[in-house]
Amino acid sequence: MPRIKIAPSILSADKSKINEEIKEVEKYSDLIHVDIMDGIFVQPTTVDANFVKTIRTKVPLDVHLMVHEPSDSYIKGFIDAGAFSITIHEEACKNPMRQLEFIKKNKINAAISIKPKTSLDAIKPYLDMVDMVLIMTVEPGWAGQKFIAETLSKIRELRHLKTNIDIEIDGGINSITARIAYDEGANVFVAGTSIFGKKDRVQAINEIINSLKQ
Ligand code: DX5
Ligand code: ZN
Repeated sequence: MPRIKIAPSILSADKSKINEEIKEVEKYSDLIHVDIMDGIFVQPTTVDANFVKTIRTKVPLDVHLMVHEPSDSYIKGFIDAGAFSITIHEEACKNPMRQLEFIKKNKINAAISIKPKTSLDAIKPYLDMVDMVLIMTVEPGWAGQKFIAETLSKIRELRHLKTNIDIEIDGGINSITARIAYDEGANVFVAGTSIFGKKDRVQAINEIINSLKQ
């Protein structure tokens, strides 16, 4: 299994002082998870590529596009803004291969995501070309939701299929749910509320990491 990575989600951070917020966690983070919502694929809207450009950190930016049919130029905006990896949603694209190929052509990491009710079969055609799969463990769109345990069987199945791929989980992740999903094969842990919702973010990250070591 690939190594454990912790990815704080800045959806729950204070955007008006985003670089200070990131500074608090960056020593203990492997990725910074940036949620982009378009008001179409998911109801809310969030920050855009211009905002991503203002982020100053050495930690790789993991951009999660909850966006309907992102165009090449839209995706390029995030690549130019400094994305290390870009995740698209299978349900949001008519032919996800097109977006994945564009991302790979630009020499950054490509990932595909599925919502809790989408089966793993939907993304099997892309498994050989992606660097990471994001298995959503809540319905995308909002922070602070409860982890959906029915997603665990997809994590298990995917880990059996792909021993070396990064399996990211996102939604309702804390020290308890991270451990449960880790036991099924997840290795990249996105957490918003359970990190930025706490006063001591370093302690919050350590709680997650420690739960995985036990
Ligand atoms: C939700 C986003 C998540 C969100 C998770 O659609 O994709 O990244 O920040 O928030 P928590 O960790 O609070 O569930
Ligand atoms: Zn996300």
